[in-house]
Amino acid sequence: MRNILKISLFFLTFNFFAQQGGMWLPSQLKGAREQEMKKLGSNLSASAIYAIDKPSLKDAIVHFNGGCTAEIISKKALLLTNHHCGYGAIQSHSTTEHDYLQDGFWAYKQKEELPNPDMFVTFIKRIDDVTIAVLNGTSDAKSVKENQDIISQNINKIVQNAKKEVWQEVKVKSFYKGNQYFLFITEKYEDIRLVGAPPSAIGKFGADTDNWMWPRHSGDFSLFRIYADKNNRPAKYNKKNKPYKPNYYLPVATDGVEEGDFTLVFGFPGRTNEYLPAVALEQIVHKLNPAKIAIRDKALKIVDKKMRSDKEIKIKYASKFASIANYWKKWIGENQGIEKSNAIAKKRDLEQKFLQKVKGTENENLLNQFNSLYHKIEEVALARDIWIETVYRNVELLNATFKLYQLENTSRKGEKTFNKKRDALLKQFKGFYKNYDANVDKEVFKALMKMYLANNPKKYTPKQLLNLDLDKITDEIYANSALINYDKAKQLLTGNMQEVLDKLQRDSAYKIGKPLAEIFYTKINPDYFKFQSQIASIQKKYMKALMDNFKEERFFPDANSTLRVTFGQVKGYAPKDAVYYRPISHVKGIIEKYVPGDYEFDVPQKLIDLYEKKDFGPYGKNGKMPVNFLGTNHTTGGNSGSPVIDANGNLIGLNFDRVWEGTMSDYNYDAEICRNIMVDVRYILFIIDKYAGAKRLIKEMDLVKAKDKK
Ligand code: ARG
Ligand code: GLU
Repeated sequence: MRNILKISLFFLTFNFFAQQGGMWLPSQLKGAREQEMKKLGSNLSASAIYAIDKPSLKDAIVHFNGGCTAEIISKKALLLTNHHCGYGAIQSHSTTEHDYLQDGFWAYKQKEELPNPDMFVTFIKRIDDVTIAVLNGTSDAKSVKENQDIISQNINKIVQNAKKEVWQEVKVKSFYKGNQYFLFITEKYEDIRLVGAPPSAIGKFGADTDNWMWPRHSGDFSLFRIYADKNNRPAKYNKKNKPYKPNYYLPVATDGVEEGDFTLVFGFPGRTNEYLPAVALEQIVHKLNPAKIAIRDKALKIVDKKMRSDKEIKIKYASKFASIANYWKKWIGENQGIEKSNAIAKKRDLEQKFLQKVKGTENENLLNQFNSLYHKIEEVALARDIWIETVYRNVELLNATFKLYQLENTSRKGEKTFNKKRDALLKQFKGFYKNYDANVDKEVFKALMKMYLANNPKKYTPKQLLNLDLDKITDEIYANSALINYDKAKQLLTGNMQEVLDKLQRDSAYKIGKPLAEIFYTKINPDYFKFQSQIASIQKKYMKALMDNFKEERFFPDANSTLRVTFGQVKGYAPKDAVYYRPISHVKGIIEKYVPGDYEFDVPQKLIDLYEKKDFGPYGKNGKMPVNFLGTNHTTGGNSGSPVIDANGNLIGLNFDRVWEGTMSDYNYDAEICRNIMVDVRYILFIIDKYAGAKRLIKEMDLVKAKDKK
């Protein structure tokens, strides 16, 4: 009896976990996914989430500026996204007199909302399966190349013939490693105005120390608004534009979340890779991630020390530091998670089962082919990552020489093209040098080049660099190169094309940067992509064979920046033995973390006052004010700003991060340990209303009780 209970419990939990994970196309939900959602507590039908003949949840979701997600929360197209997604816009409106990053920004009247010239949002109007048309004729293809050519021709035809309105756009994207194709009809709005943002001490509370971590206490949100022309169509900024009238907007639930509640996250996840063979994952964990982590580790330590000793450097480098630190920390967590969850061994088990099933078929050699290709690509993959981290991401001067190399290349297209590119580059340089400190960069250069020369495969290192006297060359570059400040760089770029090119060749930094750029274009990338396209064609067959041979499994398509649904529940987790993290954090925890004057953990006085008076308005519960909560939704970069929707279609939160122990979900989602982190919508309402006093924004929302049916 006891054993039976144990066994059935095992299957129950097994089943429970098996039903989570995955980022589904909203047009894929009917049937099995709908049933899984129901079991997790949802009352939503597939057509309430995605429909093309009537308003549905999808009409409230937009791709925000090509990277993040945002959602409409009022009939006047008030748009909610993360603070870290609106960061650039908030920064661009800031000056020393009014620093909106530090103090926050609130448009108390509609006419105070601020336009953002380069910002845009994209709606998905329709998703069609076009697999048959895309793959038409490919079975006769005689080579990988011919196959690709047929596919691109087919896609061109489909795009040209797609039914759409003149202001709409079309694109076709590949899913399941090229086994399926979907067409997207989209609409892009370009008059997006900033409406509100909390101070960074709220929006980015905990900053880098708390990033990717739980318990978390960030009010990571900001507000925008979509404007449209008089016909409610997309238009460039114009004073006369009116708030867009959406087909649908999300009601906001005010009675909160509890452990076990259903959660649906709807957004634009960027990239995942769940169906790699073990050999590929092994390469990432043991070779590529460690190389990238070590380079960033070195650079971050240098920059951190400089930032701590100099206030001006701190301001200049804060944002760059945060973005380098973000993925550095993510990769460390990813590696630990993969080790701890035995992800590689699990893949090996699956591959054993796979081999048994495909014995004697055309697929029996796929895994061997993977092994040999990943073996071949390893050296160049490593060189490519080392190159990107050293030249492109961390040594700023080398990044500048890389751009100059691209400029030199345009000289082949004539003086006119060259001049255009030069002007664009100068504009870019202006921003770049504003936040550049040659002393910081010099130390990074020396340390990273030392690592580069020691670790980079010789085959992919420019000959000119092999016997470099690094100390000498470093001093020389940072004393003499024109690229260490804007004025000198501008001077270098002044003159006719030939003059500029001549000056460039003589520059001491360019003498190092040019061969580095050259080897990237002429050796690293060609070798890498030669293997990569062979891997892709094996991966396509492997994906199909997996789906054909394990029919009972749930195969969700890898993320590719298209609109997806992921569902789960509010849930805590056990990061290690004897430790359990509860899934909801409160303002109390902000006060616990408070370090007066600290750049990560300072707290605005007004928030302290509200906390002390327990003045949470209608948004707190039993004297407590929730801030963040955890769920089992399968998310990744790009899901930032995604709405968290309850069982009845109401907004309950705003996705912004994952827990460190679960960042491996990009390769191996495991419902036991992978958690996404969300801002509780009640905290957002509290900050807008009680902290900022922007009541007009609360008034335009539909506030409902979560148990209400929509
Ligand atoms: N880790 C989150 C994401 O990948 C948040 C990043 C922004 N926040 C920060 N503290 N750097 O993008
Ligand atoms: N912060 C991430 C973003 O900017 C989302 C967190 C994640 O990677 O899960 O999209």
